[in-house]
Amino acid sequence: MRDAAPQTIYLKDYTAFGWHAQSVALEFTLDPHKTRVRSRIAFTPNPDAPAQDFFLHGEALALISAKIDGQDVTPTLTDGGLTCAVPAAPFIWECEVEIDPANNTALEGLYMSNGMYCTQCEAEGFRKITYYPDRPDVMSVFTVTINGPHPVLLSNGNPVTASENHAEWHDPWPKPAYLFALVAGDLIAHEGQFTTKSGRDVALNLYVRPGDEGKCAFGMQALKDSMKWDEDVYGREYDLDLFNIVAVDDFNMGAMENKGLNIFNSSAVLASQATSTDLNFERIEAIIAHEYFHNWTGNRITCRDWFQLCLKEGLTVFRDSQFTSDMRSAEVKRIGDVIDLRGRQFAEDQGPLAHPVRPESFQEINNFYTATVYEKGAEVIRMLKTLVGDQAYADAVALYFDRHDGQACTIEDWLQVFEDTTGRDLSQFKRWYSQAGTPRLSVSETYADETLTLTFNQTTPPSAATADPQPYVIPVAVGLIGADGDEVLPTTILEMTQAEQSFTFSNLPIRPAASILRGFSAPVVLAHDADNAHLLAHDTDSFNRWEAGRTLARNALLGMITKGTRPDPAYLDGIYTLVNDTTLDPAYRALMLGLPSQSELANALHEAGHTPEPDIIHAAVETMREALAKKLGDALPELYAANQVSDSYQPDATQSGARALGNAALSLLTRRDAGAQAQAQYDSADNMTQQLAALANLIRAGRGDTAVKAFETQWKDDRLVMDKWFGLQVIEADPEDAFEVAAGLTEHPDFNWKNPNRFRAVFGSLALHHAGFHHASGAGYALLADWLIKLDPVNPQTTARMCSAFQTWKRYDTDRQSLIKAQVQRILATPNLSRDTTEMLSRIIS
Ligand code: ARG
Ligand code: ZN
Repeated sequence: MRDAAPQTIYLKDYTAFGWHAQSVALEFTLDPHKTRVRSRIAFTPNPDAPAQDFFLHGEALALISAKIDGQDVTPTLTDGGLTCAVPAAPFIWECEVEIDPANNTALEGLYMSNGMYCTQCEAEGFRKITYYPDRPDVMSVFTVTINGPHPVLLSNGNPVTASENHAEWHDPWPKPAYLFALVAGDLIAHEGQFTTKSGRDVALNLYVRPGDEGKCAFGMQALKDSMKWDEDVYGREYDLDLFNIVAVDDFNMGAMENKGLNIFNSSAVLASQATSTDLNFERIEAIIAHEYFHNWTGNRITCRDWFQLCLKEGLTVFRDSQFTSDMRSAEVKRIGDVIDLRGRQFAEDQGPLAHPVRPESFQEINNFYTATVYEKGAEVIRMLKTLVGDQAYADAVALYFDRHDGQACTIEDWLQVFEDTTGRDLSQFKRWYSQAGTPRLSVSETYADETLTLTFNQTTPPSAATADPQPYVIPVAVGLIGADGDEVLPTTILEMTQAEQSFTFSNLPIRPAASILRGFSAPVVLAHDADNAHLLAHDTDSFNRWEAGRTLARNALLGMITKGTRPDPAYLDGIYTLVNDTTLDPAYRALMLGLPSQSELANALHEAGHTPEPDIIHAAVETMREALAKKLGDALPELYAANQVSDSYQPDATQSGARALGNAALSLLTRRDAGAQAQAQYDSADNMTQQLAALANLIRAGRGDTAVKAFETQWKDDRLVMDKWFGLQVIEADPEDAFEVAAGLTEHPDFNWKNPNRFRAVFGSLALHHAGFHHASGAGYALLADWLIKLDPVNPQTTARMCSAFQTWKRYDTDRQSLIKAQVQRILATPNLSRDTTEMLSRIIS
């Protein structure tokens, strides 16, 4: 049971721990309900820390015994840990506890998944394994002994000895407890090998459950590519003889970078042609890279405290986005990232959950593994690189590695290496870390005497987290396009530092079109009355060319919704030309056919002072798709046919791009042929991308029943594919039925709601179904609330994350607002509601 009044923790209250942990020895004797953990820790007083009681974190532990320097002691058990009188000199702490991994449904600490033992310690899970100073600034060298009747017994670092039912591991690199990991079970290794640039041979293993051996090859290659890339681009080499990855079915998040023993949600690593889509492959490659890159940005240099989470996450997301850009198409990656940022981070930053990239307080740190910390955190680093330039960025990062290797650091340390490298004062830039909210950047143009003047205005709406936001440093990438489509001014970075600022461009005999915020050079909402049709046809910046189309589409849809106008012919003509331009990358053309999400439109309406009506938004998007299908009409069969891949399947950028365009064409074609082509594709598909796209179209065309059953029969034993089956039926449901489809799926015998992937397949999809979730009846809200109440005592972390479905409630009409509020209050009134869920819902409703 949790505290009645949850504690708020503040960044400003940081104090160092009073002792150093010189070494840690752990011994595990595994048993599903009675696992024994013995610890032996050498503590020495920390002369730099203020005087304090000796306090070790501990939760859900049964204390068996404790000793100091070999003498039994009786610690005082407190809420969340223990205190004990200790000598003023170095001492040895020994303790034995018993824990119950089989009943650990929260999936934090040591738990069991399908008969295997595994751990998740970030952020504060190690305290559920033994008493320990569970904070990232306490780093130590760990030796781990595991006893248990399992063929595979793994921990961090290098193996010391291994025999039947017994293994010893030693990790020479000092690390915080959140990077500890243990895995035990009946697993199969898919083996690989990598030689580092200085000649160290590294054994690589991807451990999976029997039956999953055929889904390892892609992940292994992604790991090798990541290791090579980090050497080539950042000069970072791997530092142990062994690198293990383990796939686990029950996992709250995507994956975890434990030193030398990464643990992955199986959905984030297992891949095969038959069972994974092209997007799955790309995501898996990115997550493997992300976790691997953490070895330097996170593990060798870690965070002083959890407020600094973006220090490792923002940087590592930025690094993995660079990797994907290099491995695949940089323009496609950038557009995908911006779509994702607008969909998740902007929604967070513009609602009641808004918080700075570096928050200043929290109750439950697990609630801050957010799009703001991760994705906006990466955008901030991207801006920093844009401002200082590529060479200074490389120099500053090299200095960071040199100066801070082995340390637990802060954002101040990170910015300092940039100040030292460039001589710049970054105090204003630092507001990107300390202020919440998405800046609105508006631009007005004047043209006279062959001179174009761009006047920029920035404002950031106040939020609960930042009452009075001050102006940011905004790198605005600008180019100018002439009337004939030529580039008059190549990309130039304007540095905006004031609330209002003008920039002039002279010697322009003919007024050019301004292409602003190229490459999405800052995470802001741009308002610019641009010549979007011209830019869609001619912009030399591929991001802004796409953005021009997106803006035309958004404006057209907003007009259709608020004024009942017809789909904009300029948009339809521009898209027609572009999509049929075979000199352009098919993946890029596929992105051009996308429309803003209905949630994004709801937000745009709200910003413009309208109350979004989900069914009207849905209808407008349908009308627009219909108009696209009509406009592209006769070109669709050819567009479809030209993008069928006949070579043997590869999940690479080229083939994925062709399939993406072929399937974008298919979805429009389905409106014209009642699903005939979709059925043909379903029947002949030899990979999941084609099969799933065909299934989606069949459902949309109202003729999916047979295929939905056939799919289930074919895939009932593959849990990752069945997650897709659960999710797709909700996503593709008619808004009138979405709630009932979701409710019906919860009755399915394979709806294992304690498995986070399966829970998210149904309810994550329902929350994403804008018109279905926000159905006027409120049935979607009530269904989600029922299940959140049920899941909370089992898995608070996943429950709390799903609560963000309610974060946009203030956008809607008063009826919907009260329906949502009633459900939020119903959940909040549940006895013993977790700290995680309580914090999330209180912030949402405040
Ligand atoms: N550090 C992991 C990653 O981003 C995420 C782990 C988060 N886990 C959690 N329970 N909060 O790669
Ligand atoms: Zn990470």
